Amino acid sequence: MIKIIDLYKKFGDKEITRGLNLEIPEGKMTCIIGKSGEGKSVLLKQIIGLMKPDSGQIIFDGQDLAKLNETQMAEIFQKIGYVFQFAALLDSLNVFENVGITLLEEGEDKKSVMSLVKEKLALVNMQDDVVFKYPSELSGGMKKRVGLARTLMTHPKVILYDEPTTGLDPITTRIIHDLMYDMQKQMNITSVVITHDLEIFKYADKVALLNEGKIAYFGDAKDVWESKNPYIYQFIRGLSEGPIQTEVVHTSEKAGM
Ligand SMILES: Nc1ncnc2c1ncn2[C@@H]1O[C@H](COP(=O)(O)OP(=O)(O)OP(=O)(O)O)[C@@H](O)[C@H]1O
Ligand SMILES: [Mg+2]
Repeated sequence: MIKIIDLYKKFGDKEITRGLNLEIPEGKMTCIIGKSGEGKSVLLKQIIGLMKPDSGQIIFDGQDLAKLNETQMAEIFQKIGYVFQFAALLDSLNVFENVGITLLEEGEDKKSVMSLVKEKLALVNMQDDVVFKYPSELSGGMKKRVGLARTLMTHPKVILYDEPTTGLDPITTRIIHDLMYDMQKQMNITSVVITHDLEIFKYADKVALLNEGKIAYFGDAKDVWESKNPYIYQFIRGLSEGPIQTEVVHTSEKAGM
């Protein structure tokens, strides 16, 4: 669905993306993990065209993004939903206006927008009575779900999530993960999830680890805890100290040496 070939991006002389290759399979959930500041959000922004790569290719549905004109780009981006890290709701608009914003701006009839908004809110397990509330009256988890409902209004084929559960309690996190999983299965959406929450392995199909601007590991989520790839082994166990070992040595064995 999305193929990234030899991607490079730097800011000043600071290289962030350094020859990154990644293939994101259609209809599946792929999670991208990696240390803070590694360039996960920068990668996502390049995929959705918010940032231009220095070199390399991003192929979306067989089309090279760099070779498209503005109209063609707009068509592609209509198929992509982006769930921002902090929900990004407009504080001066209520839930109805936030979720229905695009259709309302296009002059669509309020009544029909309202019924669509309620339909999407139901998909994210929110009740009708929330429509006239303002973002300041919602909890963090509710805001994230409203952000998700807004994304669903556009019927995306691909949804990119930047840290959808950061800062949420374990129960709300599970609810959001369940929702993402159900939507992906029911609507056959291709999902890409950037997260620091390793619970995602229970929901995702594929795991990609970003390290020093490249994908250091790519594999099936179900196998990730068994992997002996030194990068993923170290990262998911939080073993941040020392050089990456090619052979995995347990701490207790080391202590006895
Ligand atoms: N517009 C920009 N201009 C200059 N530097 C930037 C810009 N955007 C990001 N960076 C730098 O690129 C690096 C990667 O940032 P990015 O936001 O992608 O990290 P991340 O992996 O998403 O981290 P986190 O897990 O904390 O969200 C950082 O060093 C950041 O300072
Ligand atoms: Mg980020």
